[in-house]
Amino acid sequence: MTILVTGGAGFIGSHTCVELLNAGYQVVVVDNLSNACRESLTRVEKITGKKVTFYQVDLLDQEQLNAVFEQEKIDAVIHFAGLKAVGESVAKPLEYYHNNLTGTLHLCDAMRKHGCKNIVFSSSATVYGDPAFIPITEECPKGKITNPYGKTKSMLEDILMDLCVPDPEWRVMLLRYFNPIGAHESGLIGENPKGIPNNLLPYITQVAVGKLKCLGVFGNDYDTPDGTGVRDYIHVVDLAEGHVKALEKIESMTKNNESGYKIYNLGTGIGYSVLDIVHNFEKACKKEIPYEIKPRRAGDIATCYSDASKAKAELGWTAKRDIAKMCEDAWRFQSQNPEGLSD
Ligand code: UFG
Repeated sequence: MTILVTGGAGFIGSHTCVELLNAGYQVVVVDNLSNACRESLTRVEKITGKKVTFYQVDLLDQEQLNAVFEQEKIDAVIHFAGLKAVGESVAKPLEYYHNNLTGTLHLCDAMRKHGCKNIVFSSSATVYGDPAFIPITEECPKGKITNPYGKTKSMLEDILMDLCVPDPEWRVMLLRYFNPIGAHESGLIGENPKGIPNNLLPYITQVAVGKLKCLGVFGNDYDTPDGTGVRDYIHVVDLAEGHVKALEKIESMTKNNESGYKIYNLGTGIGYSVLDIVHNFEKACKKEIPYEIKPRRAGDIATCYSDASKAKAELGWTAKRDIAKMCEDAWRFQSQNPEGLSD
């Protein structure tokens, strides 16, 4: 089977390409490289010893996107491509809505035109807003989302579900990720944000490597064991494996003549606080991570972790890598690539 991976040069995308190639799929990547680089795919090829077909195409360019479908015989799509910085999305709502929504509409249109109606979508636990209950199951209602980025994820889920209503050929997997961190254990690919990182782990790794001075901890007065925010951090390779399982689910649905959409949480089910992560990372890098307590960050919630039992029961997937491994692997990537990857 040939899988089109949009955003395949990015953090989760590149790790998913590795797992797809290892599982024997052919991989075609479409990426506009706005927040990624070609080098990560060269490294995917190095890790796997297999080839990736790459198109530098923006999903907003309908013509070029259709040309990819004409050139390649695509069996299923894994759709990661999108803008993803929460704070930036508040400042640039029009850009976020246009890019994430229009890009996905173009993608679905091209898929339909070419008779490929199998899609795995990169959604987020952010759709639960401040969750109605914890651990969060897929039954938890979607909540009030405080930023355009998160809203695009929620809207895109709705759009993909609506596609299934009139057309029984669509098979849609909505994967709600918790907090992906870590890196491939080779140290060749990892999280590679441009500019100052917004997320906790890349910020910590850049403090550890000396690029940033001090971590700001956003609030220590939450209703959590140590007062700092609690999240469900998941190793990116576990997450990548979840995508392979979701494709296998699509294949088994196809065999059984089933269609429609399915929703799965991809998390570990364990919550760690910001300070837990700092201390686990200190063990991995054998350095002290200086930090100072800062005010709460707008839009943050106290606690967010998953109940991942549905993915276990229906996909046969569970996260296997613990927090020590997540920190070790993140550190290996950062220390081997202090300047990150670039072309
Ligand atoms: N944090 C800090 N200092 C930092 C960065 C983060 O203390 O410099 C704290 C946050 O306040 C939060 C925790 O670390 O308590 C995790 O923050 P991240 O920014 O790493 O992740 P979020 O949970 O805010 O958001 C992530 C993704 C979103 C996604 C969301 C889903 O970035 O894309 O998970 O729950 F929508």
